[in-house]
Amino acid sequence: MTHSHDNAPGPRQAKPALLITGGTGFIGSHTAVVLLESGYSLVLVDSLINSTREVGARIAQLADLEPWGDHLWRHASGSPWLALLQGDVRSARDLDRAFSLMPNRIAGVIHLAGLKSVGESSDEPLNYWDANVSGSITLLRAMEKHDCKTLVFSSSAAVYGETQEVPISESAPLRPTNPYARTKAAIEQILQDLAASRKGWRISILRYFNPIGAHPSGMIGEHPRMPPTNLFPVLCQVANGSRERVEVFGDDWPTPDGSGVRDYLHVLDLADGHALAIRALLEGNAQLTQLNLGTGRGWSVLDLIACLEKISGRAIPAVIAPRRAGDVAVSVADPSRAQAVLGWKARRGLEEMCRDGWAWFSSSHGCSHD
Ligand code: NAD
Ligand code: WQD
Repeated sequence: MTHSHDNAPGPRQAKPALLITGGTGFIGSHTAVVLLESGYSLVLVDSLINSTREVGARIAQLADLEPWGDHLWRHASGSPWLALLQGDVRSARDLDRAFSLMPNRIAGVIHLAGLKSVGESSDEPLNYWDANVSGSITLLRAMEKHDCKTLVFSSSAAVYGETQEVPISESAPLRPTNPYARTKAAIEQILQDLAASRKGWRISILRYFNPIGAHPSGMIGEHPRMPPTNLFPVLCQVANGSRERVEVFGDDWPTPDGSGVRDYLHVLDLADGHALAIRALLEGNAQLTQLNLGTGRGWSVLDLIACLEKISGRAIPAVIAPRRAGDVAVSVADPSRAQAVLGWKARRGLEEMCRDGWAWFSSSHGCSHD
């Protein structure tokens, strides 16, 4: 098997149809654009609990597709096409509709749908186990029914939790510390059991570190449920004046400047990782692989503040606050397995992440929930 070593998706040529759950969300929308650009047709299934229908039209526009029907678009040459279906992954009926929407067989699934707020997961654990774990089981049953056993699953560096290894490799123990992270670890376990049943499943588990940024067009990006708690959207709110200041959660961590260090990666690099992962599965044999997607480089809270101040030209007032419960000092990926297995490497640096993310958050799309 040959792999691209520069993440290049290659020329647009007809490829099979894929299903993306959570396809109008932050990571889903960027992944959809990259996959359409490389020729895959897509069915996006999303409950729209944290995104909007409008995102479908923006994805189509970015991928140069024209309207073709109700929530359907296609390229002038007829292929690829894009369909958006409002549906819930916990509903076998919605999934049946998605698998049967177009005559083309669905060759693989990228499963991103779910709830992702760490804080909310402690307040509403049943909602998290239901949406994430029950949703995944319903999806896996639908895949078996429709004879589709190729899956890329969105996991998270959160599964490593208290693990202190730096950088973190995939063989590090999983010590999740909150309900959200435990749902991700549980789904990973279910997928391992499924792969061990030797029914020919091809599964790639992607553990993302801290995705930020947006498409450089400013047309798609992250729609955080209000109010955001992740650092990057908080900083953008301070920069655009809708929040007074940022609280830096601890200046006494064992890091060079005392603030927490994370492995931020551009959401388009993450999208490229999905495109390479699904391609490797479609070309490969039955397997289950866990892959870290991160840059391998850490940036502190103060580094990110300084970078966004420079890019936006705005001051970002900061105050030191106590450490946040459940945080770790440093979380940085060892991404070498993803490079070896997929030929994937994050290419975009912190300034590009800040520039593109700021373009989104300071645009009218990024400010509203239209
Ligand atoms: P997002 O909220 O922007 O996207 C998730 C999408 O799933 C949303 O459009 C939402 O409407 C949809 N959805 C939620 N529940 C659903 C359901 N039951 N049925 C159908 N659709 C449903 O989040 P994102 O940042 O794009 O995250 C995508 C995936 O990546 C999630 O599984 C998340 O846990 C995982 N992840 C995200 C991050 C991050 O920092 N953004 C990091 C690691 C892992
Ligand atoms: C980053 C750094 C904070 C806000 C979370 C999830 C993880 C994944 C990504 C889904 C830390 C500091 C933050 C603020 C701050 N999501 N911070 N002031 O916690 O690394 O990861 O999002 O899977 O699962 O846990 O990201 O952006 O919240 O924090 O000082 O107002 O910024 O302490 O050092 P985190 P984050």
